[in-house]
Amino acid sequence: MDEMLCKCGGVTRAQVDYWFGQGVCTLEGLSRKTGAVSGCGGCEPELLAALAAAENNMSDG
Ligand code: FES
Repeated sequence: MDEMLCKCGGVTRAQVDYWFGQGVCTLEGLSRKTGAVSGCGGCEPELLAALAAAENNMSDG
């Protein structure tokens, strides 16, 4: 599943999951690594939700 979350930066959910696994757990960090939220900014809530979902996946084991 490779859902596009940030169209401006071309950032997918798979990328968010990957970077979360690398310890990138904030929107700011994600933006630096991937270029997400570097355009219109409209993806911010979706990226935050994806980070929260990644965190849930981790803690659920
Ligand atoms: S969709 Fe992410 S900055 Fe526009």
